[in-house]
Amino acid sequence: MRSTMKRFKVLTFGCQMNEHDSEKMSGVLTAEGMVKAGSPEDADLIIINTCSIREKAEQKFYSEVGKLRQLKADNPSLVIAVSGCIAQQEGAKILRRAPFVDLIFGNQNIKDLPGLIGSAGIDTKKAATDFADGYEHALLPAEREGAVSSFVNIMYGCDNFCSYCVVPYVRGREKSRKPEDIITEIEKLVESGCREVTLLGQNVNSYGRRLDTGCGFPELLKRLDKLAGLERIRFVTSHPRDLSDELIEAMAGLPKVCECLHLPVQSASDRMLEAMNRGYTFNDYMRKVEKLRNLMPDIALTTDIIVGFPGETDEDYEATVKALEDIRYEGIFSFKYSKRPNTKAVVMPGHLPEDVKAARLDRVIDLQNAITEENNKAMEESVVEVLVEGGDKTGGQGRLSGKSRGGKTVNFEGDLSLVGTLVKVKVTEGKKHSLSGKLVV
Ligand code: 5AD
Ligand code: SF4
Repeated sequence: MRSTMKRFKVLTFGCQMNEHDSEKMSGVLTAEGMVKAGSPEDADLIIINTCSIREKAEQKFYSEVGKLRQLKADNPSLVIAVSGCIAQQEGAKILRRAPFVDLIFGNQNIKDLPGLIGSAGIDTKKAATDFADGYEHALLPAEREGAVSSFVNIMYGCDNFCSYCVVPYVRGREKSRKPEDIITEIEKLVESGCREVTLLGQNVNSYGRRLDTGCGFPELLKRLDKLAGLERIRFVTSHPRDLSDELIEAMAGLPKVCECLHLPVQSASDRMLEAMNRGYTFNDYMRKVEKLRNLMPDIALTTDIIVGFPGETDEDYEATVKALEDIRYEGIFSFKYSKRPNTKAVVMPGHLPEDVKAARLDRVIDLQNAITEENNKAMEESVVEVLVEGGDKTGGQGRLSGKSRGGKTVNFEGDLSLVGTLVKVKVTEGKKHSLSGKLVV
């Protein structure tokens, strides 16, 4: 590593997987003696960790990297690196639009970061985006931004090839970590004050499928539930097709596993689900929702919706709207279909005009906002368990913030000494995006 390079700044876009990759980059660089810079202007190395899930994310990256052009002109020794899914997808092509970028590295090359940076310079443009064989990314030191609650990778990649999705192309084939490695990592986290883990994988329900350990996802949850000092377990993302009865029963029976589930439905039209290659019908999905709610009446369900998939008719779309009204999720992430390179949907007939997609999205968002607020209001007067994560940054002094088991942000008055503990809070106000409450003593 160049001795002059001391301060780094990682700019992160995209999902929790990316956020966690950024923590790993910070961990690796800190272990090399570098320190975090407050802003890009103060940094000797800037890494942009990118997302390519939708075209908009890609456009955002190019506008963001464009902003760094001047910094590089003012300070030629500044090293600008691009990582994440756009790096994986585009490789050296990024240099055509942003020639001042010095280094491009993929998700599986984080461990090589010190060496890559050491050799990155104005004359040596590099693109390291190989899918490394047997890479042990998860064993890298990670700088955990929130000590009370941490992300832990249990698997990488995805084999599902949903017809709209670029993830299998940019994150590679599905690969599970060994249960012992996951448990050891979480034990260490707990020793350093962590009380809640969110297990990360593109499809956690198929965890262990390719390992010869006999430990599938329900079994992994059972083992983690026994860890002393760990209070809560969450996970994302669950593919509805692979949500087994065994897993639902494990969730209901294990005290540390929170009653909340992100279960992306994408569409409620069977025609669309088939074209999307999702592997379930809407009826299959609803049966699983019913089973979840039978065993866990208070379970907080969230989902992802894509509107305007190629060939989506008004009727298909209305089925999705009705599903939102019927299921009444706690929250959704909704997106306009976006063409992604290499994916099957790009060549499907019936691509819809932008204004149709936009109108469909707007209606879904308005509907869900109303439902979320109604659900939050319905929680008024109830008492929820909150894991206190820190001070409420928007609420001022003496205000604390944490999450309910259902994953809602709860703000209330209390002493900072409560950070890292579980408390009971009576909800006094259900707001649009959070709950306000009063500590129950
Ligand atoms: N267009 C729109 N939304 C997409 N998603 C994934 N790929 C696309 C795409 N090409 C959404 C899906 C997925 C979430 C992470 O992003 O809803 O569940
Ligand atoms: Fe993409 Fe489908 Fe894999 Fe999720 S399951 S990452 S939507 S291909």
